[in-house]
Amino acid sequence: MITEGVVKREELFVVSKLWSTFYQKSAIKGACQQTLSDLQLDYLDLYLVHLPLGLKPGPDYLPLDSEGFTINDDTNFLETWEGMEELVDAGLVKAIGISNFNREQIEALLNKPGLKYKPANQQIECHPYLTQEKLIPFCQSKGISVTAYSPLGSPDRPWAKPEDPSLLEEPKIKAIAEKHKKTTAQVLIRFQVQRNIAVIPKSVNPSRIKENIQVFDFELSDDEMKTIFSFNRNYRVCSFHWGVKHKDYPFNAEY
Ligand code: A2P
Repeated sequence: MITEGVVKREELFVVSKLWSTFYQKSAIKGACQQTLSDLQLDYLDLYLVHLPLGLKPGPDYLPLDSEGFTINDDTNFLETWEGMEELVDAGLVKAIGISNFNREQIEALLNKPGLKYKPANQQIECHPYLTQEKLIPFCQSKGISVTAYSPLGSPDRPWAKPEDPSLLEEPKIKAIAEKHKKTTAQVLIRFQVQRNIAVIPKSVNPSRIKENIQVFDFELSDDEMKTIFSFNRNYRVCSFHWGVKHKDYPFNAEY
């Protein structure tokens, strides 16, 4: 229970990610220490490899060539993982995980000779347009918990096009929300809770942050869950299109 105004560190679960230009083993500790310093923390609860894609190190956060594709480096996420493991041993992070990895990449990591720590968590885009019905059970069967990012479909994404579908406007999901006297966002969040997935809706608005946690006082029926699943169309809002030429681009695989 968090007392208003006085939040103890142990009452928070703070997650951050290692960005792709820091995947060289020698750069990982410094990147994590910078994040800790930025956040004024002594440790992170969970630190994730942002993508399986190593990019050219340097001041450029997203180094792109003249055609708009990433300038890659020759790191492999298996080496990067060793640097992540060292962060646990150094006490900078409590647990380590991955984000945007496909099944084959997860298997490669789990089968890595000398693996010291398994990924605790995989964070992936997940919402009714991208239900991830194969990748989620696969991760869970390996003891890797799953977190859904963009659970509302990231309506604020700068690259949204007017013709893109909008989850918060879907009449059938709105109708389910009305029946439960809840908002559409709450239904989209509850949908993931009932799948045993952690959910991280993003908001900078205090009243929405409160709204988004009020999802434990109602339950979606099996039929309602089925209706919500029926929206799946393998539609990604975060396809990292600039990385499609990378040897480890994760989203060409079925899952
Ligand atoms: P805001 O920050 O102004 O609240 P996602 O988590 O899928 O990436 O979606 C984040 C976007 O959804 C943000 O633009 C956020 O806007 C908006 N959002 C967050 N919570 C809600 C809510 N309860 N109802 C409507 N929009 C929301």
